[in-house]
Amino acid sequence: MKRTKVIDALKCTTYGSDICVKGWVRSKRGSKGIFFIALNDGSTIKNIQIVGEDSNFHEETIKRITTGACIAVSGTLVESPAAGQASEIQAKDIEILGDCDNTYPLQKKGASWEYLRTVAHLRPRTNTFGAILRIRHNMAMAIHTYFHEHGYFYFHTPLITASDCEGAGNMFQVTTKNLYDLKKDEQGKIIYDDDFFGEQTSLTVSGQLEGELGATALGAIYTFGPTFRAENSNTPRHLAEFWMIEPEVAFLDQEELMDLEEDFIKYCVRWALDNCKDDLEFLNKMIDKTLIERLEGVLKDTFVRLPYTQGINILQEAVKNGKKFEFPCEWGDDLASEHERYLVEEYFKKPVIMTDYPRSFKSFYMKQNAATADGGSVGYKGATAPGPTMQGTDVLFPSIGEIIGGSVREESYDKLMAEVKRRDMDMTHLWWYLDTRKYGSCPHAGFGLGFERLILFVTGMQNIRDVIPFPRTPKNAEF
Ligand code: 4AD
Ligand code: MG
Repeated sequence: MKRTKVIDALKCTTYGSDICVKGWVRSKRGSKGIFFIALNDGSTIKNIQIVGEDSNFHEETIKRITTGACIAVSGTLVESPAAGQASEIQAKDIEILGDCDNTYPLQKKGASWEYLRTVAHLRPRTNTFGAILRIRHNMAMAIHTYFHEHGYFYFHTPLITASDCEGAGNMFQVTTKNLYDLKKDEQGKIIYDDDFFGEQTSLTVSGQLEGELGATALGAIYTFGPTFRAENSNTPRHLAEFWMIEPEVAFLDQEELMDLEEDFIKYCVRWALDNCKDDLEFLNKMIDKTLIERLEGVLKDTFVRLPYTQGINILQEAVKNGKKFEFPCEWGDDLASEHERYLVEEYFKKPVIMTDYPRSFKSFYMKQNAATADGGSVGYKGATAPGPTMQGTDVLFPSIGEIIGGSVREESYDKLMAEVKRRDMDMTHLWWYLDTRKYGSCPHAGFGLGFERLILFVTGMQNIRDVIPFPRTPKNAEF
């Protein structure tokens, strides 16, 4: 008989008909010659209940129905007398597809997150990880649907690159060279001409620079792929391999960029509420009792749009009133996560889009704000700053911190080159990027959303290692 997925079997009301389901045993209990199996096949958080009489089966078969075993059940679909489920199956035939003995690592309930990371090959079979992974899939669908419906083209940027987009230098090298036998020049510098690509190459930290090439040809593109950062950050918010969504749009200004950021995130959150109800209800009950309320709250909120300079003023005011921060917050300092959290969680109590950052800690490609006579600058809605600022627009979220990093791009060749000189950057490998500013340059903007940070927010999970099937972090590349 053709197999029915558990999600469909649970919706089926043709009571009395024959049905076949296959899946993994979550639990088995028995009393007075009757056994009950909770069976799950991953199609839904919900299990289907299988009921059988001991006397209809071989004793050996019943013994082999252990937690974790894979079985196929054929029987009759019946209306369930038990609360909380519409239907169940009265088993006529049970086939053991895969035995599971008592060394199965997921036998006990309530295992810690840390323990589950050591069995990442099996943890997708738990309720929580099943829910997270189905939500993860749904968020990917939301993203593609959003951009497709809004006329963006999915643009594939390379994972292997000879340039460093963020200029932070935390890249993983790609080489086929024997590292113990490197060819070097007289100064001791490695020569790459005999390497696979004939030059030094790395895994990309961002598809943005190539994304800009797409946007200045197709008008609006997005990327959605893995990115890699060799930063030695052992935090609950950083992975060495994470997925990033990077839309890039021609003719978009700073205000429109912020509109896009806000609209896009809200669309994704709404999608989760509309399409992942069962999984969200499970997480809301088991992981975080305020999850659904928080997701609904974000849809109602209008995100605050806050120039960095005003943010610094608020932080300094708070310090004056007795608030203690570990890190300084003078104008020009990069905000620490404690500062972001104060603004988002305590001061505004809603998401904040921060704009107009000092150029000292932002990337070279950002659009420079107009200078004032005294060396300051004018940014979003006429806000003035004591020094030069750039049109960055980062979205800060409650409990996550930075979820989006974005900016308007500097479209003027001369201004961009002035910034490159100020930073003493070597642009040899970026000649093609500079061509966008030489040939029909245009205003454009874009952002990068960290996919796992979005999943953290939508699931209420606390650690980024628990929202990707196989996390890559310092000293960990297992599975
Ligand atoms: O702020 P970032 O570094 O921005 C860029 O890479 C730009 N080129 C994006 C663009 O404008 N197209 O990174 C973007 C986002 C961050 O806001 C964060 O959500 C996520 O990527 N992110 C990480 N997520 C997990 N682990 C890491 N190590 C991350 N680094 C950044
Ligand atoms: Mg950033």
